[in-house]
Amino acid sequence: MNREQQKDAGRIIVHVEHLKKYFPVGSAGFRKEPKQLKAVDDVSLDIHEGEIIGIVGESGCGKSTLGRAILRLFPVTDGKIVFKGTDITRMDRKELKEYRRDMQMIFQNPFSSFNPKQRIGNALAEVGKVYGMTESETNERIAELMEHINLPMDFLHRMPSELSGGQLQRLAIARALILNPGFIVADEPVSALDVSVQAQILNLITDLRKKMNMTMMFISHEMTVVEHTCDYICVMYLGRIIEMAPTKELFAHISHPYTRALMSAIPKADPDEEKERIVLEGDIPSAIDLPEGCSFASRCFACTKECRERRPELKDLGNGHFVACHRLH
Ligand SMILES: Nc1ncnc2c1ncn2[C@@H]1O[C@H](COP(=O)(O)OP(=O)(O)OP(=O)(O)O)[C@@H](O)[C@H]1O
Ligand SMILES: [Mg+2]
Repeated sequence: MNREQQKDAGRIIVHVEHLKKYFPVGSAGFRKEPKQLKAVDDVSLDIHEGEIIGIVGESGCGKSTLGRAILRLFPVTDGKIVFKGTDITRMDRKELKEYRRDMQMIFQNPFSSFNPKQRIGNALAEVGKVYGMTESETNERIAELMEHINLPMDFLHRMPSELSGGQLQRLAIARALILNPGFIVADEPVSALDVSVQAQILNLITDLRKKMNMTMMFISHEMTVVEHTCDYICVMYLGRIIEMAPTKELFAHISHPYTRALMSAIPKADPDEEKERIVLEGDIPSAIDLPEGCSFASRCFACTKECRERRPELKDLGNGHFVACHRLH
């Protein structure tokens, strides 16, 4: 299904409009405002029901901040977040409580997402309890999820230290699903795991999304990981989306020089196949004092005078493909 068909098919679960999250950094000098680190700077996107949207980019580009901002884990600087038709941008903690159960997060490190002194079964049951499920409802749901994640029930009696990273990440996924949330942010859910285990977890996510119609934002710094898991991919660079497209379209017509550089880092299955090799040069500018023009200009092999002077906006290339680059029309 392409993006246009999907738009017709699925309702929008998350709508993000011109979202900004700036962090004040350093102390304010005399009569001076503190500087702002633009972690997320004018991001707009829609996430449709049953869709897995991938957010990909180098370390520090703002992926986690975007995910957390959408879940309203902190106040946002500007813009709008609409969740299932309700504007949640300025809601306070009390108002947000109703929405918390419907939006869950899966973290990178499964060992730090469980209390090391609590048995797995209790950690899972606690979620149901906090949100007012009865004990039998919770137990029934846990049993159902244990089957989905392919782990025996006796694992519920174990302590987190008695499990492998992969097993624990399966349980973290089960825990996020207990309340049947409408939206999940998975922040680098496989990055801390062994390569062989990574594939198992990615397969589990693919399997679960079919069974449960999950709507998910999947954050990763690796193109290959998002390629196999996501329907739609957004490439971020210094707080902005610089290219976004349905996965197949993106891989067929990679457009932005930054995305091409990210792709060129992926080894080809066939070593004899010709491969474009782009090595990123120059430094990533600081997200505090961003240059006037394109933020990628200082590292771009195709940079022109215009790129240094004027920031490119996202342009529609058709087929749901958008790119922010002066060189592409
Ligand atoms: N609480 C904070 N206060 C100040 N700066 C922050 C805060 N949280 C994040 N940042 C900064 O915002 C930018 C984006 O950070 P973020 O964690 O969103 O990046 P990321 O893309 O998730 O990186 P990684 O791949 O390393 O997880 C970084 O420059 C980071 O230093
Ligand atoms: Mg992160």
